[in-house]
Amino acid sequence: MAQQLLDKFQRNIEYMRISVTDNCNLRCVYCNTSTKQHLNHVDVLSYEEIARVVRIAAHMGVHSIRLTGGEPTVRPHIEKLIEMLRSIEGINDISMTTNAIRLTEMAQSLKKAGLNRVNISLDTFKAERYTQMCGFNRITDVLQGIEAAKQAGLNPLKINTVVLRGVNDDEVLDFARKSFTDGWNVRYIEEMPLVDNPNGHKMVSICEIRESIENNLGYLEPCYTSKGCGPAKYFRLSGSRGSIGFIGPVTDCFCEKCNRFRLTADGKLRPCLLYDDEVDLRQALRGGASDVELESLIQQTAIMKHEKHQLADNIAPHGRSMRQIGG
Ligand code: GTP
Ligand code: 5AD
Ligand code: SF4
Repeated sequence: MAQQLLDKFQRNIEYMRISVTDNCNLRCVYCNTSTKQHLNHVDVLSYEEIARVVRIAAHMGVHSIRLTGGEPTVRPHIEKLIEMLRSIEGINDISMTTNAIRLTEMAQSLKKAGLNRVNISLDTFKAERYTQMCGFNRITDVLQGIEAAKQAGLNPLKINTVVLRGVNDDEVLDFARKSFTDGWNVRYIEEMPLVDNPNGHKMVSICEIRESIENNLGYLEPCYTSKGCGPAKYFRLSGSRGSIGFIGPVTDCFCEKCNRFRLTADGKLRPCLLYDDEVDLRQALRGGASDVELESLIQQTAIMKHEKHQLADNIAPHGRSMRQIGG
């Protein structure tokens, strides 16, 4: 029988986000702009090491896993890791956050390996703008990848849209309409200031986005149907098949309900996205630590979780970029 992993504030830690690589095939302006060195192969956790951590965490109460990057689909044979995680007792949800560029070729094999669902980053429908925001002309691949993921049954599929003032804020309504016309689950995300994006100065608040949608497209009724473990609050336009979600880390702090930690590609367990604290699991894994010792490090990480972030006081992490944490 699995235990519960509680932090100092009685929050139940049941969701682990695993960054499987710090490599990415895009260069999004709010995430990955530097030419910082990527990790050496030997420094990245092997699939066996990741699976061992997950097996121990599952025994402690973690049941939901999200694979992130960088871009998780660029790590070779990622299906192998998914198969390994699928077979761990207690893990009942495996999802991935991806830019979808490789999904046309991979969606079927990911599903077959045991992936349940995907969240896909897409900030614009305009080809030229996509290239400006993400660094490469790949929008056609993304749109095809979204269709491939749907066909493969990677449901519910959600679209992550970071809205930047003066960059893509004129497309907010186009995304909302997609929830109605195509049944999309669209989530608007406030830009967070991290390394590589230190100011986050183009952030548009979710309040402003919501107001614009309601003024132009109609009332947003709360809905709770979208399966997920994360911080989004969900609504829908009347009669719509899809949903509209809001993720407001900056203006609508959701730390009180935080249920997760993050494992970086180089094996550091991070209690919070927005603080630099980390616990080195790789050293323990490679130094012959027993399961009990690893369990104790995981417990220690949970205890280190902060009550809430301090972005309002301009306290932001300065150690790693989004690309190195996976959001
Ligand atoms: P589900 O709800 O399970 O579908 O996933 P999710 O929303 O947790 O995952 P996703 O990777 O799609 O994240 C969406 C956005 O929420 C990204 O911008 C993440 O950086 C942000 N996010 C997720 N968890 C946290 C968190 O603990 N703190 C903050 N500040 N942002 C988070
Ligand atoms: N602020 C908010 N969201 C971000 N993401 C990447 N960088 C940022 C940022 N600075 C989002 C991506 C992806 C998810 C993992 O995090 O769009 O969907
Ligand atoms: Fe863009 Fe995601 Fe790559 Fe960051 S990790 S550059 S958000 S695709």
